[in-house]
Amino acid sequence: MTPFFNWWVIVLTLVNIFACYWLIKWTMKTRPEEAASGEPTGHAWDGVQELNNPLPRWWLWLFYFTIVFSLAYLVIYPGLGNFAGIGGWSSKGQYDQEIADSNAKYGPMFAAFSAKSIPELAKDDKAMKAGERLFSNYCTQCHGSDAKGATGYPNLADKDWLYGGAPEQIEQSILHGRNGAMPGWLPMLGEEKVGNVANYVQSLSGRPVDQASADAGKQVFMTMCVACHGMDGKGNQALGGANLTDSTWLHGGTARRIKETIAKGRNSHMPAHDKFLGKDKVHLLAAYVYSLSNK
Ligand code: HEC
Ligand code: HEC
Repeated sequence: MTPFFNWWVIVLTLVNIFACYWLIKWTMKTRPEEAASGEPTGHAWDGVQELNNPLPRWWLWLFYFTIVFSLAYLVIYPGLGNFAGIGGWSSKGQYDQEIADSNAKYGPMFAAFSAKSIPELAKDDKAMKAGERLFSNYCTQCHGSDAKGATGYPNLADKDWLYGGAPEQIEQSILHGRNGAMPGWLPMLGEEKVGNVANYVQSLSGRPVDQASADAGKQVFMTMCVACHGMDGKGNQALGGANLTDSTWLHGGTARRIKETIAKGRNSHMPAHDKFLGKDKVHLLAAYVYSLSNK
């Protein structure tokens, strides 16, 4: 906080607290124009009279207590501008402590799982329950709670892999992340050639297309696309070049979406999890993902 806002918060907070105290004192005083304590105020509803009685004591003390409490709180905990409080509490400190506690508690369990191979773990019910919990905490926001993905986020429960479905390949994907870079071709090829190659791509999965256009598209494919998608269009797992011959489409499989992918390109990013989760948890997650398509 800048010095200005530091003092802004301090002054506002303290003025508010002392104003509460003053308000209580002020309302307790009997003013000359009012009825004496215990006397009718002159207000009456349906024959019921209001007396000028003081607040019940316990209630009054409750107000005093909240004032003292708030002052004590502001001394111990952060709240007054940049003053950290004498208790040394911070939300980050509490978070770090909770992480340390949970690592101490569950770390040995993950370490024990980590000693086993991924295919072995995939058959271990207890390990898979723990893996499922990790997955729902860290992966579902992108890959879905059933791991079946969505447009732009790959399905992890099928046999179709951008980067390979072997245990080590899955573990690499999670540890170090992946960047799928599909360049946009419109500037280089122009509208017509993009249309042709889009037709050729669709013919690879057996769709009926304009044959002359697809043939022209094949020429383009053989020069521009084979490096990443292979001569047969089956992809290249080293680069994450998608398999174009199946009916699984990461970025949507309608004719329009496919053409758009080729024209504009796509960039997909799978974040690295090695630093964030640690090797043991990633190992367990890899086993969980592996188990989804290797029942
Ligand atoms: C911010 C979104 C996001 C999160 C969170 C995320 N992923 Fe991913 N993941 C992706 C994207 C996008 C790709 C595709 C990357 C590409 O196409 O290059 C991907 C790819 C993968 C792959 C490779 C799939 C293949 O076909 O080869 C695996 C395995 C994977 N993720 C597992 C996980 C696991 C396990 C977690 C949880 C720890 C996770 N992901 C969390 C977005 C995410
Ligand atoms: C530099 C490597 C590279 C080249 C060259 C390349 N691509 Fe790609 N392409 C990729 C990658 C990587 C992906 C996956 C993108 C992702 O992970 O989001 C992809 C995805 C695609 C997809 C979407 C697949 C899906 O499942 O949704 C289509 C269609 C496609 N490419 C067509 C082409 C065509 C046609 C050409 C040639 C004009 C071409 N690509 C050239 C790397 C390349």
